[in-house]
Amino acid sequence: MSTAIRSGTAATSPRPPHAPHVIPLRRLLSDVRRGGALGFLDSAGRQSQGSITRMNVGPFRPFLVTHPRDLEHVLRAHAENYPRGAAMWSALGRLTGGGIGGEGNQWQASREILQSAFSARYLAAMSEQMITSVSGAVDDLGTRVGPGRPIDAGLEMTRMVQRVINPVFFGNLVPDEEGDRLGAAIATAMGSLLWRMAMPFVPHRVPMPGDRAFHRSTRTVNEILRPVITAARKGPRDGDDVVTRLLNGTGAGGESLTDEQICDDIVALFVAGSESSAIALTWVWVALAQNPEVYARVQEEVDRVVGGGRPRREHIRQLTYTNQMLNEVLRIYSVGWAVPRMATADDVIGGVPIPAGSTLVISPYLTHRVEDVWERPLEFDPDRFTRERVRARHPLAYLPFGDGGHQCLGQHFFSQEASLIVATLLTRYRVGLHGAPVEPRLSLTLQPRESVELELVPR
Ligand code: HEM
Repeated sequence: MSTAIRSGTAATSPRPPHAPHVIPLRRLLSDVRRGGALGFLDSAGRQSQGSITRMNVGPFRPFLVTHPRDLEHVLRAHAENYPRGAAMWSALGRLTGGGIGGEGNQWQASREILQSAFSARYLAAMSEQMITSVSGAVDDLGTRVGPGRPIDAGLEMTRMVQRVINPVFFGNLVPDEEGDRLGAAIATAMGSLLWRMAMPFVPHRVPMPGDRAFHRSTRTVNEILRPVITAARKGPRDGDDVVTRLLNGTGAGGESLTDEQICDDIVALFVAGSESSAIALTWVWVALAQNPEVYARVQEEVDRVVGGGRPRREHIRQLTYTNQMLNEVLRIYSVGWAVPRMATADDVIGGVPIPAGSTLVISPYLTHRVEDVWERPLEFDPDRFTRERVRARHPLAYLPFGDGGHQCLGQHFFSQEASLIVATLLTRYRVGLHGAPVEPRLSLTLQPRESVELELVPR
């Protein structure tokens, strides 16, 4: 690992070298006591307002990097110096492996194969299948709703998202109930990794809480996925689903992916694609309930574009305000609130020296609240996402799906599935919150603090 100051880097920065803003441990602890982890993050954002900030978290002293101009440096101009590194990723890697959830050659091979699986052409081809899955899921939901019978938004959005994912990922290879069991095992494995993610410096040989649940759930994942991959290898390879694409794809040297890599990539896709989408969709209903004028505009658009029937493929791109609303939900409720990176060589960002080995916390949640980039950042306003206003902003002012080489492969998949789910539900139901307003909390993702209950009244 080189530790030389990267030549040319300082020259590209207009600012003279200076120390980062520092949040001392004492301040950090008092913010955490007052407002929990999110209270601390909010306070760090208010104090730093986009300047590079060092956080003293015991032996772990990451830099918070939030301003779009600094993100451009880390994620685009000097991305090769900032791989995923250890924080969060080494724990997550125990579940998602070294392919699409990792770095290096294996990641590159998986990325190339999966990129085609999530291309615009493929998504367009998948839209009929998605519409059928969403309509089926909303039909099923109809059997569980009724006056005085609120539904759990997190659970129901997870069911819908998994219903959409299953055919696209597995073709017809995994029965729905196995898909549910797989989803549950992956969710448990993810939850059990929290301690390891919070303390990335503890070696894996040292037992930690969650380890047993982790091993149990990864056994279940293997039990379900391995036979599917073995069967798919033996059968005809003409499907358009993700498993078949991974089986048929090759790395840069023309070699096929191993069963282990394919298994890891499917798990990584499930982790990346299912939980984050379900949480984002849960926030949609919270945001719509708290902003009735936005709800009314989305409803008007859905009624005008879709009418009373089931959404059709051509409606997806006509739901422009609905899409703006989804963008604004992900600005305020940035589900992927932190995307860590590690500096492999000494560097200087915006005048601040960054030693090799430092962890950088990129936080879309905080970038979306920087006041010299976003006017009235705490207000919910989908009109921020009209085409003209998007064009006038720095391209890295908005990054709920990350940016650079690791930018989310599923972002268009998400916006297609989310607009179909919102439109299908709104053609049939008036959706409202049941109970008190819901606050966010920080976990690996930005989640609702309590379960979100929804009341669905047929229209
Ligand atoms: C609201 C929904 C979603 C959010 C907020 C989200 C967010 C993100 C973020 C922030 C990253 C960047 C990670 C990094 O830079 O290290 C990422 C990567 C990724 N996402 Fe998503 N995602 C969402 C939905 C999806 C869906 C639906 C899929 C798949 C169907 C998906 C698949 C992936 C994959 C495969 C990567 C890794 C790409 C790589 O490292 O090359 N995501 N996502």
